[in-house]
Amino acid sequence: MTRGGRALRVYATCDLGPALERIPSAGLELEVHPGPEAPPYATLRAAARDADGLVTTLRDQVDEGLLEDAPRLQVIAQCAVGLDNVDLFAAKARGVVVTHTPDVLTGATAEFAVFMLGALARRLWSSEVEVREHLWDGWHPFLPFLGREVSGLTIGVLGLGRIGRAFAARCVGLETDLLLCGSRPAPDLVAALQAEMDLRHERGLCGRRHTARAVDLDTLLTTSDALSLHVPLRPSTHHLIDAESLARMKPGALLVNASRGPVVDEVALVESLRAGHLGGAALDVYATEPLPADSPLRDPALADRLRLYHHFASGTERTRLDPDPDLGMAGRCVAGLLAVLRPDQPLSDLDYVLSP
Ligand code: GLV
Repeated sequence: MTRGGRALRVYATCDLGPALERIPSAGLELEVHPGPEAPPYATLRAAARDADGLVTTLRDQVDEGLLEDAPRLQVIAQCAVGLDNVDLFAAKARGVVVTHTPDVLTGATAEFAVFMLGALARRLWSSEVEVREHLWDGWHPFLPFLGREVSGLTIGVLGLGRIGRAFAARCVGLETDLLLCGSRPAPDLVAALQAEMDLRHERGLCGRRHTARAVDLDTLLTTSDALSLHVPLRPSTHHLIDAESLARMKPGALLVNASRGPVVDEVALVESLRAGHLGGAALDVYATEPLPADSPLRDPALADRLRLYHHFASGTERTRLDPDPDLGMAGRCVAGLLAVLRPDQPLSDLDYVLSP
C-alpha cells in the first residue's frame, strides 16, 4: 500500500504480540518502539511526523502539538477503551480518525472490579500475609480479624456505560442490592437487573428479593455500602470523588476504582482512610502511573485497607492480546488501524471508530 510513491508507515508505541503481524502482511511498513516503557514524548512526536498511522496506548500523550506536526497522519489506533490521552478535538479538526477497543475488555474489567471488591471486603491480602509471615496461630472464631460479606451489601455503581453495566450484572449473582447512577437515565438496565433479581428469588436461588434502583449522585454516595467507579475521565469527572464526596459516603463504606485515577482525589482518599471514615479502597488506576515512590497511597499503615493493583483490570491474555478483533484489544486495535489505512479491509463493527 503506497501513498505519494512510498509505503504507508505505521509506528506502534509498544509490542502488541501477534496481532501486529497483520500490519506488514497488509503491505504496510511497521516500526515498533522497543522495550516495555512508552517512548518519550519527543520520540513519539518525531515518529508521528512521518507516520500514516499510529498504534498508541493510554501511556502516550497525543496532543495538538504532535498532531500539528504530523502531516501524513490518517489514523490513531488506541489499544484501550479510554481515550483521555488523545486530544480528540485536535484529531477531528485535522481529519485524523481515532479508533479504540471497547467491548472486548468489558467482561474482564467488570469481573476484576468485582474481585477487587471481594479482596477488599474479605481481606484476602491480610489473610495471605498472616500465613506467609508466620503470624497465624491457628483457627479462631474472630482472631486475628474478620471480613465483610459482599452478599447483602448495597452496591453503588457510578457510570453506566458498558463496563458499569457489566459490573452491575455480575453483582446480581452476589446477592447484593444495586444503586445505579449514570449521566443519563437507564430504565432498561434497571428493569433488566430487577427482572433477573426477581427470577432468582422466585426460583429459590436467593433468600430474599434484592432490588436495583436508579439514584442521583447524592443518594448513591450517602446510601452505598460499597461504591464502584466506571466513569470516563472528563473535566466533569476529574476528582468527582473528592474530600466532600468521601465525607458524604457512609462510615465504613468501601470504594473501588477501575476507571481512571484522576476521578479520585488521592490525597483526600488517604485522609479519609487515615481518619477511619472510609472502610477501605481498592484501586487499579492512579493519578500518575506507575504509582510514584512517594505516593501517600503507599503508607504501610493503610496497607490492611487499601488494595493497590497495576492497572490490570483488562489484563488477561485473551483480552489484551488475542489477534481476533472480536476477542482481544490487540486484534481490535489493529483492525481499526487497517480499516482506515486499507479500506479494502473494512470492520465488521464500526462501533470502535470515532469518525472525524
Ligand atoms: C484501560 O484502562 C482502557 O482504557 O482500556
